[in-house]
Amino acid sequence: MGGTVKPYTEGAGLPEEMWADFGPLFFDREDFIPPQLWLGAVPTHIPTSSLHRDPHCGFLLQVIGRKRLVLYSADQEGLLYPHKAYNNYQPCWFKPENPDYVIYPKAKAARCISVTLNPGELMVQPAGWFHQVHALDSPNMSVSYFWRY
Ligand SMILES: [Fe+2]
Repeated sequence: MGGTVKPYTEGAGLPEEMWADFGPLFFDREDFIPPQLWLGAVPTHIPTSSLHRDPHCGFLLQVIGRKRLVLYSADQEGLLYPHKAYNNYQPCWFKPENPDYVIYPKAKAARCISVTLNPGELMVQPAGWFHQVHALDSPNMSVSYFWRY
């Protein structure tokens, strides 16, 4: 079986019909940018998203299957080789899943924490923290929502 087929929503907007069940729970929806849906069959042997960071504080709600997140605090920016030019989402040249310490020697000093999210669990994602996402099970479903501020 090939490993690169990815029928996955990749953060498409959460349909409004699903907001009541999966939208930003416990908070005022007006304070959030529209929620994103991550749903589908996804390879489990490669990262679902490569190392990057988002500009806002957010939440990741795990609904189906498990996900493992590898997180680096924002103050490790100088060790992870983030792209200097980016729009909203800042990717890194350094790839933790296939580390090249010859090209990216400072990354050896980077320290991460790894968290497994189970269905029904919600992770707070601090603004500016770098993260890489691995789906541990397929199919998989998560909903993410970020504060506007
Ligand atoms: Fe992200």
